Amino acid sequence: MTSQVRGAQLARLLGQWHALPGRRRSPDYAALAAAVRGLLADGRLPLGVRLPAERELAEALRISRTTVTAAYGQLRETGHLASRRGAGSWTRLPGTHRVASTGLWTPLDDRDMIDLGVAALAAPPQLVPAARAATEDLPRYLGGAGYHPTGIIELREAVARSYTARGLPTSAEQIMVTNGTQHALDLVLRLALAPGGNVLVESPTYPNALAALSARRARIATHGLAADGAGWDADLLLGTIRQTRPKLAYLIPEFQNPTGHLMPTALRERLVAAAHAAGTDLVVDESFVDLPLEDTEPPPPVAAFDRHSRVISIGGMSKPYWGGLRIGWVRAAAPQVQRLAAARVGVDMASPVLDQLVAVHLLAEAPAIVAARRAQLAGQRDALLAALAERLPDWRVTPPRGGVTLWAELDGPISSALARAAEEVGVRLAPGPRFGLDGTLERFLRLPFTLPAADLVEAVGRLAAVRYDLDRAGRPRWREPSVIA
Ligand SMILES: Cc1ncc(COP(=O)(O)O)c(C=O)c1O
Repeated sequence: MTSQVRGAQLARLLGQWHALPGRRRSPDYAALAAAVRGLLADGRLPLGVRLPAERELAEALRISRTTVTAAYGQLRETGHLASRRGAGSWTRLPGTHRVASTGLWTPLDDRDMIDLGVAALAAPPQLVPAARAATEDLPRYLGGAGYHPTGIIELREAVARSYTARGLPTSAEQIMVTNGTQHALDLVLRLALAPGGNVLVESPTYPNALAALSARRARIATHGLAADGAGWDADLLLGTIRQTRPKLAYLIPEFQNPTGHLMPTALRERLVAAAHAAGTDLVVDESFVDLPLEDTEPPPPVAAFDRHSRVISIGGMSKPYWGGLRIGWVRAAAPQVQRLAAARVGVDMASPVLDQLVAVHLLAEAPAIVAARRAQLAGQRDALLAALAERLPDWRVTPPRGGVTLWAELDGPISSALARAAEEVGVRLAPGPRFGLDGTLERFLRLPFTLPAADLVEAVGRLAAVRYDLDRAGRPRWREPSVIA
């Protein structure tokens, strides 16, 4: 069933569409069409929804119907709108553009675009040799059916060893291989959360985790992270867990996405104790644990404080290695792993053997690959910070000590408007509201430093230019007072 957006709703989403940069260079209909494209681009307006009839939108925006007709016409031409006589017009994206349910762009589209919407690195040079070596290993598995719901033993052992090396003794039975961390989260939610269950998440948090929770119809409460300083407010976080007793809390303690915060050891310990007392399961997303960018010793894993199988850790290859591998994992108690594997059989049966073998080869070279990644990321982070300090000095940024993103506090509630304007100059952004639940976080912007330094510097230059335009477009103009007689 196609859902419909009413005129007043779309008008609210469009906000200050007429004040976008370029407004004075382009006619109203083009500015309106650009604003709708911007909403589609940042996921505020979903795909496949029916737009209001032209007359209804014209009334809601207090503009002429001809302007809306022309804007819809342009959106049809650019492939952002499909129409059928009598059935109305609904949103879509041009052939090469695809978005996931949360509006994440896939990298298929516009190659000239500097994509700061995705926080992931290109593959390391070791990937092709690892893939070749994996094909050499494959014959060892070809005699069997190839279904390994918990993963191939070599990979489970390699992952278990990496936990043990971090001070958390782990056996292969405690590991289940998944198709990425996102898949791990989805499976864990299927097992640990009844539809409509209460969940606590950080705000801001990883948008696709929110999507997975919404798919479970979870009732989501948030713990607000400070943009600067320690991030988590220990008393508030533990107090919320004690009072609201959520069924589950989803947290990213290592170089949190998007803020980059690292949870201190003492809070980890108290968190596990509070969760146990409240009957809350902790799902700990360790996607960025391998990527500290300073020489600080990372705190022990949250699960190291767990005596009651309250903590389920999830992680994967995407951030230190490559997202295209689609390999992740769950670390939990062995019986939980068995239950997850049973649940998985009704979903996707098992992960591809060949890809798991590639992961085994990459993990065998972990120290060299990860060291190079960290050096690369530290350099790119510093280039981004320097460019921001020079070109956008009013933005406040706490340099992250790890991970791949920084969370900039902007000089106004302009994140979505900036993302729309940036799209026009070839920079794709994930604006702040994407990382929260309720359309707030407009004063924030996540900036990943996963692209080469030159691209980051170029992107900041373009952002600085459109930031300036936003101001000029929005500057109030004095009018003659009208006479009321
Ligand atoms: C916190 C967090 N969890 C999960 C994922 C998804 O990872 P994967 O590609 O392993 O599914 C990401 C990717 O950005 C992430 O940042």
